[in-house]
Amino acid sequence: MTARNPVRYSQRAQEGTAIDIDGVFRYLNRDLRMVERALAAHLSSPIPLIPVVGKHITLSGGKRIRPALLLLCADACGYRGARRTTMAVVTEYMHTATLLHDDVVDQGTVRRGRPSANIVFGNSVSVLVGDFLFARASQLMTEDGDIEVLRIYARTLVFLSEGEVMQLMKTRDPGISEKEYLAVVFCKTASLIAAACETGAVLAEADIDTRKAMFEFGRSIGIAFQLVDDILDFAGTENALGKRPLQDLREGKITLPLLYALRMAKAAERQRARRLLATKERGNREVAYLAGLVARYGGIGYATAQAKKHLLRGKRFLLRLPDSPARSALLTLSDYILFRTA
Ligand code: IPE
Ligand code: IPE
Ligand code: MG
Ligand code: MG
Repeated sequence: MTARNPVRYSQRAQEGTAIDIDGVFRYLNRDLRMVERALAAHLSSPIPLIPVVGKHITLSGGKRIRPALLLLCADACGYRGARRTTMAVVTEYMHTATLLHDDVVDQGTVRRGRPSANIVFGNSVSVLVGDFLFARASQLMTEDGDIEVLRIYARTLVFLSEGEVMQLMKTRDPGISEKEYLAVVFCKTASLIAAACETGAVLAEADIDTRKAMFEFGRSIGIAFQLVDDILDFAGTENALGKRPLQDLREGKITLPLLYALRMAKAAERQRARRLLATKERGNREVAYLAGLVARYGGIGYATAQAKKHLLRGKRFLLRLPDSPARSALLTLSDYILFRTA
């Protein structure tokens, strides 16, 4: 398999829409190049395996949504200095660490279009290098020395861990409520996106209301981002996603499309689904049955409508910022979240 462009958004997402994601990319081109260089440089360690595994995941693709949001939020609030690069690296390292750990927990096999690190190097190495990335991110923040930024990411690390544990407790539990599902989504995904956006405002020394608005913007589009990830697990292709679709059903992870279908299904269908979810493993037939329920009861449509709602809420928080190219780029990037195919 070939390595994907390190900073690649899905081109196909633009077709039939007015979303100029390439324009966002062009605007950020120089900044993202600096982030890429810093991402590679900070992997250095006297322990040779660390940069090897670190590069396997960090430099093999990834949309760099979180660095892009951080760069743009800082810019839109009035800061374009060098600390943006450091904080973008912090955010992307934390994200990458969660991916390394996630593929161990979820038994993922493909990530960013390559065999995942747990497959290539094993579970122990993935967990330990994930820890290294969290540690390096902490080191970069401490060297930067801003207690507010440290406060944001310390709190986020708590959310990330809570989200993953909560999710584990709820796996294969068809009784999961939409509220519980959304709590997991906020903790495991949206909290980090919100941290990136809030950090942008902190770098710009924005007032407290603006800072809160950027956090809320990140929270809402972060929730939408995970809802779309869950939708793409049903509707996406391995080639575009760079990871295996239908993985959530195989794992027994009950995401919004299935949660909704279970709510709408007939009692007998619901009972059968519960039985399939109760077993430890699900083969192709069982997965196809569950995916069929989602299709029959409009689970994707429902989840898409919810994602749109969160996205709209998020975009409203940007209106308190003055109009600028960075703010326009943030609006475009928000819309891209809904239409993305990768
Ligand atoms: C994947 O995140 C994990 C989720 C939080 C849904 P991304 O879709 O941002 O993954 P990369 O960084 O582009 O590979
Ligand atoms: C994403 O959860 C949350 C993370 C913190 C990695 P998923 O399990 O949905 O992520 P993918 O689909 O494997 O990328
Ligand atoms: Mg996963
Ligand atoms: Mg997923």
